[in-house]
Amino acid sequence: MCGIVGYVGPKSTVDVLLGGLKRLEYRGYDSAGVSVINQQGDLETRKRAGKLAILVDDITKTPLGEAHIGIGHTRWATHGAPTDGNAHPHLGGTTQKLSLIHNGIIENFAELKSELLEAGAVFASETDTEVAAHLVAAEYDKSGNLIESFRTVVRRLHGAFTILVMHEDEPGVVLAARRNAPLVIGLGDGENFLGSDVAAFVEHTKRAIAVGQDEIVILRKDSVEIENFAGDKVTREEFVIDWDASAASKGGWSSFMAKEIADQPQAVGDTLMARLGSDGNVHLEELASLTSLIPNIDRIILVACGTAAYAAEVGKYAIESWARIPVSVELSHEFRYRNPILTKNTLVVAVSQSGETMDTLMATRFAKEAGANVLSICNTQGATLAREADAVLYTHAGPEVAVASTKAFTAQITSMYLLALHLATARGTHSLNELQEIGRELLKLPAQIAEVLASSDAIRTLGKNFKDAKTVLFLGRNVGFPIALEGALKLKELAYIHSEGFAAGELKHGPIALIEQGQPVIVIVPSPADPDSLHAKVVSNIQEVRARGAQVIAIAEQGDTEVAKYAVEVIYVPKVHQMLAPILTVVPLQIFAMELSAAKGLDVDQPRNLAKSVTVE
Ligand code: F6R
Repeated sequence: MCGIVGYVGPKSTVDVLLGGLKRLEYRGYDSAGVSVINQQGDLETRKRAGKLAILVDDITKTPLGEAHIGIGHTRWATHGAPTDGNAHPHLGGTTQKLSLIHNGIIENFAELKSELLEAGAVFASETDTEVAAHLVAAEYDKSGNLIESFRTVVRRLHGAFTILVMHEDEPGVVLAARRNAPLVIGLGDGENFLGSDVAAFVEHTKRAIAVGQDEIVILRKDSVEIENFAGDKVTREEFVIDWDASAASKGGWSSFMAKEIADQPQAVGDTLMARLGSDGNVHLEELASLTSLIPNIDRIILVACGTAAYAAEVGKYAIESWARIPVSVELSHEFRYRNPILTKNTLVVAVSQSGETMDTLMATRFAKEAGANVLSICNTQGATLAREADAVLYTHAGPEVAVASTKAFTAQITSMYLLALHLATARGTHSLNELQEIGRELLKLPAQIAEVLASSDAIRTLGKNFKDAKTVLFLGRNVGFPIALEGALKLKELAYIHSEGFAAGELKHGPIALIEQGQPVIVIVPSPADPDSLHAKVVSNIQEVRARGAQVIAIAEQGDTEVAKYAVEVIYVPKVHQMLAPILTVVPLQIFAMELSAAKGLDVDQPRNLAKSVTVE
């Protein structure tokens, strides 16, 4: 995890670095630091444990010198506790003229550290990173060539890393290397940037280049060179960032999460835009490279983690029902270690907001090696997953900054509806009329989400009222089941409350023993018009828990008067095609978790122990 930023150019470097770190803070927030080479040619470094605000305060009180080159880091600790000493940058060599930051894990650091200790190196931290700083400094002392020294060292490192380095004696250049961790270049006019993702520099430039695996970047104010670890030049195409810089700021909202929940009509609308016509026809040009595979797909495996995996669960229902292809959902980190059966007719769909989740990346690499085709559903342009997959279907949710995923989730589900309709159309599993009708229902979703948001007072009050709850249970059936799981996850991560999601039908097989007097149970109720009469079954489940003392809060379709008889509160959402209901029913659960967390005085955007982009296995 960790966020990294680098800059060479005429702007005030400290401002550029701190601005970039602010937008990357979601990647890790247990310490932060920057190094610059000031106009006198001296390397200055400042780093502090705790959130970025502590570093900003420190620099405001005692400013760093005016500088036009620098690197910055926001940390999610792996090796060594979050202390000032373990914060990045780390300095290398006895002269301490070299500064280095790192995202990832250097797996062979113990062996390298022993070698350095024997040679007399003195370590100031417990991190794996400092090893790299000392190694590059030692090589530079020998050769006097920074690029060559850096190349020599990165070739020796095992594991995952994005490393940025600069040296007081080479004041015009920042070097960067990447293996199994993200790195993007921002191209400016007389200035250039490096970042873990484009959010780091989107306010300064929209032109970017995604750096490939095992590549080194030589960044100067007016030039950018890329080479592989062997030193051969590499050419990479630039792309235009379609995120608006203002989308990555709070814009007056109390938290990024509040803003991102409110962004959902747009996130879903933008994901549908240009892919779904007003006639309900789906056109996914992005999937052109899979055209010959589609008639032959014998199985789809959706790989993802966390919230993205719950979105995938909803996708499973839609793809199986509409495209009639067998689908399984696998947690990425389990999938690759259990010898799954993959053939050239298996389509693996990797779902990830960041496109950098290491577990999901490893799962896709494994699937590709086994001969399967990989489609990625990803929210971040230029992300590793998007580049490594055979095809990519971008969700257009815009930058998601709050650690708990909200708008990316609804955009992921939307993409899977589009995928399911595309596959169904291509395979002719339903009449075009039926599929177009679903397509036209999809088009209504942005306005319907807006309606849910506009009538959210009751759920907000409930969130506040339940702030002392010790445990909250969530029940759902069919597509409501993954939403129950997602509601429970949101509450765990934001409010640190024990919560569980259950398939409502599973309750009587054990979990009902948990119900005692006053236990809050949130139930996602299917439409009374459901053709499989699931509504009646869920109402029975509600009665079962109520009989044992539960306080039931129902999320139900407008006009469902039956359920009102058994619930202490009913949150109504608009009537929608049964398969599309998750996009609406999840919204009150997001709001519930956010309000409860805020009522407990917790940090909604940056919950403890978490980072948004999990780039370690
Ligand atoms: C929870 C959450 C995580 C992510 C998971 C996968 O709110 O955000 O569970 O969904 O870490 O992340 P991506 O989608 O970036 O692969």
